[in-house]
Amino acid sequence: MDYMEIREQICDVCHKMWQLGWVAANDGNVSVKLPDGNFLVTPTGISKSFITPEKLVIIDSGMNVLSAEGAYKPSSEIKMHMRCYTEREDVGAVVHAHPPTATGYAVAGKSLDEYSMIETVIAIGSIPLTPYGTPSTDEVPEAIAPYLAEHDVLLLQNHGALTVGCDLITAYYRMETLELFAKISLTAHLLGGAREIDKPQIDKLLYLRENYYHVTGRHPGYKHYNNKN
Ligand code: 13P
Repeated sequence: MDYMEIREQICDVCHKMWQLGWVAANDGNVSVKLPDGNFLVTPTGISKSFITPEKLVIIDSGMNVLSAEGAYKPSSEIKMHMRCYTEREDVGAVVHAHPPTATGYAVAGKSLDEYSMIETVIAIGSIPLTPYGTPSTDEVPEAIAPYLAEHDVLLLQNHGALTVGCDLITAYYRMETLELFAKISLTAHLLGGAREIDKPQIDKLLYLRENYYHVTGRHPGYKHYNNKN
């Protein structure tokens, strides 16, 4: 992909997030690691519906602005994004949004750690709730860092959701999977509660992840199951 294609892909993702109702006003931010080691980042304070390729900002790994049109500045959440890249060499893109059902769990102080739906078990595993942090400060990167070793999808306490991927489409798909799983979990809760999958069946799903689907990224494996059973 050349740099213009990456810029256009970021805009597509931003527009999708707005259309899906995952972001209001200037909510949400997206970043992508470029082949030269620099980063393309959404600017702060702009609706994701209005993002166009030239508005994106290029920064280096020290968060210095290398290229920006007019008065555009990188997202105020850039420290959170950069921590994902420094913790994980395999991360090529980071997406932050407030999808309403997943964020409902984050606001209610609930993780999404039931192994109850096969696609989510394979793709993501358990989804932890990371501790509260004031946006834009070092509190958020400090809060998420311990979870990144085993997770590609995080709920941010009283805030929203964060996904990482080897590329932007992977990080974006993880946000879709998270929000759909949150809706399904809420529905199952209304119907009397989700039935968890038993361990021999989870074994088979994790085998599929490793040997058939070749899913990239990290997975917490049985940690959730062992904690509960
Ligand atoms: P920015 O506009 O600075 O990216 O911030 C949006 C946001 O979602 C803060 O949590």
